[in-house]
Amino acid sequence: MPDEIFAHPRLARVYDAFDGDRADLDAYVLLAGEVGARHVLDLGCGTGALAVLLAARGLRVSAADPAAASLAVARTKPGAELVTWHHGDATTLPDLGADLAVMTGNVAQVFLSDDDWHATLRGLRGALRAGGHLAFETRRPQYRAWEQWAAEQGTTVREVPGIGVVEQRFELVEVALPHVSFRHVYRFSDGETVVSDSTLRFRSRDEIERSLAACGFSVREVRQAPDRPGREYVFLARRTD
Ligand SMILES: C[S@@+](CC[C@H](N)C(=O)[O-])C[C@H]1O[C@@H](n2cnc3c(N)ncnc32)[C@H](O)[C@@H]1O
Repeated sequence: MPDEIFAHPRLARVYDAFDGDRADLDAYVLLAGEVGARHVLDLGCGTGALAVLLAARGLRVSAADPAAASLAVARTKPGAELVTWHHGDATTLPDLGADLAVMTGNVAQVFLSDDDWHATLRGLRGALRAGGHLAFETRRPQYRAWEQWAAEQGTTVREVPGIGVVEQRFELVEVALPHVSFRHVYRFSDGETVVSDSTLRFRSRDEIERSLAACGFSVREVRQAPDRPGREYVFLARRTD
């Protein structure tokens, strides 16, 4: 089950306003060109920021997410009609024959158990053509992002067009490595409060490389995220046949 921040209709509608600048997506647009992709699968597409960007560049785009509320937001974006949206996770995808599958925004960290992570990688493999690429990012545990999150706890206020003033309070709840849990509490101008609890898993580079090999991928390269140097691993893998 996706967290309320993605699955609750009211929270999904304000997600982009709190998410801010998406310069992180530029590297994935460039990567699609680099591997010559014509059909891209965006798994965990959320509110569809990357999917519509790629479709506007003439690529065929399939985008999947188990959070119906986030997909509903994605479907309202200009160019959304160019994207094929799937409600579900990687285990429910058809054989798309995609050239490239991506997971942006640290989607790879939402899979807490090895079983879920492996099932996702196998589902992605099945949705790619032979020799197709997989690219995703995940936070480097050594960077200890949770220490920055602890320092950043507090309230952010945004005026969201069509919705009004929304307050978001962020709290770090627990660091129990490899898991880190946090909470977002939203307060809307009509007084409604909605709480979203999240847990992410921090995997080492070795763990990810082993899981990719076990699920039918060979690692081509491990890069830095250009907008977050030193903080992320960006894996580029290829489906082995
Ligand atoms: C941090 S958001 C990133 C959204 C989007 N990729 C982006 O960059 O804006 C994480 C996304 O993972 C999705 N998610 C949660 N569980 C998932 C699963 N089992 N399979 C695929 N996606 C999942 C959530 O619904 C959410 O949209």
